[in-house]
Parts: sequence; structure tokens; C-alpha cells
Amino acid sequence: MNQYVTGAVIKELREKNKLTQFQLAEKLGVSDKTISKWETGKGYPDITLLEPIAEAFRISVTELISGNTIHNANVSANMLRSKFYVCPVCGNVIHSMGEAAINCHGILLAPLEAEPTDENHMVFIERLEDEYYVRIDHSMTKNHYISFVAAVSSNAVQMLKLYPEGNAEGHFKIRGVKRIYFYCNRDGLFSIDPVKGIDDRESGYDDSKERSKLEKAAGMLLGN
Ligand SMILES: [Fe+2]
Repeated sequence: MNQYVTGAVIKELREKNKLTQFQLAEKLGVSDKTISKWETGKGYPDITLLEPIAEAFRISVTELISGNTIHNANVSANMLRSKFYVCPVCGNVIHSMGEAAINCHGILLAPLEAEPTDENHMVFIERLEDEYYVRIDHSMTKNHYISFVAAVSSNAVQMLKLYPEGNAEGHFKIRGVKRIYFYCNRDGLFSIDPVKGIDDRESGYDDSKERSKLEKAAGMLLGN
């Protein structure tokens, strides 16, 4: 991802659209020398030109800036492809249904990549009627805390904001939830399959009969 449209992106899109530097220049009302400068990194197009450039390439300004053209217009249809972004300055949490160019406090935020839970970020999940009770075994001090928990299904995201000195826990409607995410302000994003979280509830849990029963019940519940 780029902070601003780069020469490489302009060149790539121009060639893809089978336009010469001269043809693009004419569309934008600039000289072909100007286009050449952009493409060789000797200058950037003025911000007032972003919309005309995007138009010339038949893409959106967001696509132009991010350098990613969106091939599947229906990408937002599945929430399981959700992205989370967190601003390192203010802690702002942004959820997006797909890739996006998101800026906060002048920083282009990168979509967070979730890690599997580790021994310092253990999650305990219990099924209470139609809800998952999720608790994360973690400190909740001002300097090191869990700042949000989210339960994601194919068509919904339940997001719970947490605060220092509060409890690292929450309740989520089970309906279709396939993934639990939580974010530690120091260690980043973690995710777990809720069924696995239930398995982890008791240490040394390895009763295969009980386990298979649990997985079967979870499978029915999740519609697998
Ligand atoms: Fe942590």
C-alpha cells in the first residue's frame, strides 16, 4: 500500500488501459512531460487531479491511492473476510468489510493480521444458552490491555469495546459465529475458532469421546 498515488501505479494503470503518455496527458489537461515525471518518481500529481486520473482509468480514487484495483465488486458479501484496523496513536478501531485505504492521525493503517492465541493471550469460551461467554486471561492495565473483542459470522460482526481497569470479557450471540477476534494494545490481533476455545477451557482436556460430542454439537450449532 502507498501513502499517495505512485508513479509505478500510474504507469501500470496507463498501460493496462492502453493509453500513451500523450493520450493520458490530453485527458487530464497536462503535458506528456508531466506524466513522464510522475511515472519516474520526479513528482506527484496534484490532489485536484486524483479524481480525473481515477476517471481516466475507470477506477475509484480509493483504488488509485491504495494501488489495489478491486476485481470482485462483491467482496463485501462475506464478513468472514472482515479487516480490522487500529490507530496506534489514538486507539481508534475501524472495521472494514474488505480492503480499504484508511488513515487515522496521518497514518495509513495496515489491516491487522490475526495470530493464533498464545500462552499470554489465552481465551476461555463458554456456551451459555444462545450466547458465547468469552473471557481473555490478560492484564487490563492502562499500558497493557485488551481493547476490543469481536465475534464474526458470515453476515454479522459483534464488536465489544473494552477499557483498562474493566474486565476482559463479553457475551456474544452464538448464531453463526465462526471466529472470535480480540486485540491486545501491545501484542496485536489474535483470533480463535470458538469451538477450539471451548476445548481449551480445561487444562489437560483430552477426552476424545467428550471432545467428539462437543464438536458434533458445535457443528450442528454452526450449521456445518
Ligand atoms: Fe498482551
